[in-house]
This record gives sequence, structure tokens and C-alpha cells, in this order.
Amino acid sequence: MNPHILILGAPGAGKGTQSDNIVSEFGVEHVTTGDALRSNKGMDISHLGLEYDTPGEYMDKGELVPDPVVNEIVKTALEEADGYVLDGYPRNLDQAEYLSEITDLDVVLYLDVDEDVLVARLTGRRVCEECGATYHVEFSPPEEEGVCDECGGDLYQREDDSEETARERIRVYEENTAPVVEFYDDEGDLARVDGEGTPDEVWADVREAIESNA
Ligand code: AP5
Ligand code: MG
Repeated sequence: MNPHILILGAPGAGKGTQSDNIVSEFGVEHVTTGDALRSNKGMDISHLGLEYDTPGEYMDKGELVPDPVVNEIVKTALEEADGYVLDGYPRNLDQAEYLSEITDLDVVLYLDVDEDVLVARLTGRRVCEECGATYHVEFSPPEEEGVCDECGGDLYQREDDSEETARERIRVYEENTAPVVEFYDDEGDLARVDGEGTPDEVWADVREAIESNA
């Protein structure tokens, strides 16, 4: 059976970047609530009687999308996956509790990155609209500006990567998700990785942490 891997870290810590490496190396599925929600930003959730009627309204403000919406996405995705790296979930203690009811984890990784580094990573990020590959204008630029190296698609900036929304996402992370990191740390399950090296340096540590824990 392929491993069940959870990757935790603040916005911009490199969860998506390292998840791509994990998928290539370990043959697992990338289950990411952020991407799933971005593909369904306009989904009608008005029947839930929540503050807003679509996920996109929460996302563009940097707020969390409500648990009932996200829990359902994760449950379905994990049921269909033969091994996974879960990225972007759980983001609060209620989600962590729900996750423990629906699956078992083999490895819990935490990418440790300082807050001032995060903002620079988020505001410089560019994503391929065709294949989803991630770049950074300064730290990992494509060969030709605005064009994906992998597939030739156009690169765009995520709507929540403005400096203002990035800072709000980091604040929401500190308030809601930092306790989730402590929760796994207290259980003694946390593999802490220094996320501030180059992407290749971080990947070497991530791979080693998975191989020694899975
Ligand atoms: P989501 O898409 O999950 O965003 P996030 O957690 O804020 O994380 P990011 O994707 O921004 O960062 P990342 O760690 O993947 O960094 P990346 O590898 O791209 O969520 C978005 C929104 O959806 C939320 O705000 C919320 O509204 C909603 N949502 C999602 N899940 C939810 C949930 N469970 N509950 C409720 N709401 C939910 O790297 C960033 C940049 O840095 C890139 O440009 C990259 O090239 C560069 N980089 C990466 N590694 C390095 C390195 N080592 N050195 C230099 N640069 C690097
Ligand atoms: Mg991501």
C-alpha cells in the first residue's frame, strides 16, 4: 500500500512544491483542498446557510472555507486515492479531529519557514493555468517570462497572492492552523523539516523524513 502523508506548513511554506516531488517519487495522489476549491470557486453552497454563498468569496478574503464544504471534499478524495499526500488540510482542530475519524496517517511533515520569507514567496508566485506547475519570479523563474517550462501554458498570479490577502492568510494560519501543528507535535508524530533552504535542499530532507517514517 502506498503511504498516507500529511504535509503541514504556513501559506507559502512550499507544501505544493514539495507535494509535486512526493507524487513523482512515491506514486501517491496529491490531495489538496486549495486546488479543489479553486476549481470550484463559484460552487453554490447557499443551501448550507453560511455567511457567503460560494467558496470563492471566503478565499479571496483569505478566510477559511467552512468545514462542511471542505470535509466532504477530503473524504471523497481520500476514499478514491491509493496513497496520498494531503496538502492544505486540516486547517483547524475540528478538521484534524474529522481527519482522524476517516483515515490513518503514516507520516506528518511540517515545513518550518519564517513569516517574512512567506510573504516574499507568495507575492512572487506564478502558476501555470494549463498544468498547475508553480514558479517564483525570483526564486524559481521559468526560462521564458510568463510561459510554463513544462507545457508552454500561460502563467498567472493567484487572486489571493496580493500582499494584503497573503498577510491575512498568514494571520488566519497563526490563529487556526498553528494549533494543528502543536496537536500532531504533542502526539509525537511530527517530522519537522527546515523549509528555508532551496527547493532541492528542502526536498532532500522531505524525502529522508518520509523514508524513515513511512
Ligand atoms: P491553499 O491553496 O492551501 O493555500 P495555502 O495554504 O495558503 O498555501 P499555498 O498554496 O499558498 O502555499 P504552499 O505551501 O503550497 O507554497 P508553494 O509550494 O506554492 O489555500 C487557499 C485558500 O483555500 C485558503 O486561504 C482558504 O480560503 C481555502 N482553503 C484551502 N484549504 C482549506 C481548508 N482545509 N479549510 C478551509 N479553507 C481552506 O510555494 C510558494 C512560492 O514559493 C512559489 O512561488 C514557489 O515557487 C516558492 N518556493 C517554494 N519552495 C521554495 C524554496 N524552498 N525556496 C524558495 N522559494 C520557494
Ligand atoms: Mg499550495
